Amino acid sequence: MCYAIPGRVIELNGKFAVVDYFGEHRNVFNEFEGLKVGDYVYAQGGIIVQKISEDDALIILKEWKQLFFELKEVDSAISVMDENTFDKILSNAEQGLENEEALRLLKLSNKNEMDLLFKTANKLRQKRLKNSCCIHGIIEFSNYCRNNCFYCGIRCENKQLQRYRMTVEEIVVLADYSVNKLGFKALVLQSGEDMWYTTEKLVEIIKRIKEKCGVLLFMSVGTRSFECYTAMHEAGARGVLLRFETSNPKLYEKIHFGPKSDFKYRIALLKHIKKLGYIIATGALIGLPGQTETDLLNDILLAKSLEADMYSFGPFIPHPKTPFSGAEIVDINIVLKVLSVARLLNPDAKLLVTTALETLDVDGRRLGLLSGANSLMINITPLEYKNLYEIYPNRAGSDVETAVKNTLNLLYSLGRAPTDLGL
Ligand code: 5AD
Repeated sequence: MCYAIPGRVIELNGKFAVVDYFGEHRNVFNEFEGLKVGDYVYAQGGIIVQKISEDDALIILKEWKQLFFELKEVDSAISVMDENTFDKILSNAEQGLENEEALRLLKLSNKNEMDLLFKTANKLRQKRLKNSCCIHGIIEFSNYCRNNCFYCGIRCENKQLQRYRMTVEEIVVLADYSVNKLGFKALVLQSGEDMWYTTEKLVEIIKRIKEKCGVLLFMSVGTRSFECYTAMHEAGARGVLLRFETSNPKLYEKIHFGPKSDFKYRIALLKHIKKLGYIIATGALIGLPGQTETDLLNDILLAKSLEADMYSFGPFIPHPKTPFSGAEIVDINIVLKVLSVARLLNPDAKLLVTTALETLDVDGRRLGLLSGANSLMINITPLEYKNLYEIYPNRAGSDVETAVKNTLNLLYSLGRAPTDLGL
């Protein structure tokens, strides 16, 4: 089984190409020398990550063909709405939602109105991006952190937490297994801000993985130096997951502690990263103490102004060993409203359902996907470490094989297929 469907190159324009998936076309970026029209490829996040032989591709596509069209029908049936109601909201959204209207939507509290918002966002997702859904594997390779952020369970002052570090070899072996045995085409390597992994070590990890695997590698290693991000890009990483956590500078400064932990640096770094050519996944925590609906709207607008390729918005879940242990648990509808408004403000976005949403609500992933989201993460951290990567408590999860099976069942029940979303 694989978590991406191969496509056929039908057009080449310099560094860009158009890939066909059963008649649907996506624009992608190409770094493969000698790519030709007619070649079969895997793309992730709008970047070609692997070429495959025509013989192999045709076998896989034959297996997918019937399922692909069945899934599209399921998705269309789920996304259907009363046309009159839908047209009105949707045409407003498609013409560009005013900020005031977006704020009103974030403040909705009536159940029927919220449901209509979620359905509209889902319909817009379906209309613009069809049933494409990307699946990323995440490896949490170290829970050491030099920072002391108020919301995070792996903050350095949490002395009760047992710390771990995966060796370079362990990380490379796990990535190799995840890509070449399990079929992942995009991986996120995440850790606390652990400077044991020097720039040189991170570069070595990336180079060794890229030698063995055709994969889109996302790095999620925090506010490192500009030079570190430049070096990781040169080594072959093409994505960065770095949230700005909140767009409200005052709130930001109140809850972040550590080197390079000021708001200005983080935003400047995100801009630098974007300029380097990385795909950026960014966003904020939802439900932080003191956060308002206006902050949430500004969070979505900031992600947009940073030209986020992927939106990562998830609930804040209080951790008992942090200063925010007594904070109120956010209502899932607030998270779903943020996802929906993010979709309405950015109709073509890749919108992630975070693993924290699953912890907040067992049905969180399904509800997120039905509120405008179209990307998922599967945690592939070894079980012995996963429980220790305690950014928030009670992290949802099972072994990788079960997680993969559950995710695919969920996607199929919603009619989603792992075709690339393109650029
Ligand atoms: N609840 C939810 N998400 C959290 N993170 C850190 N602590 C928590 C928490 N208590 C998130 C941050 C960070 C990501 C790696 O983990 O947003 O960017």
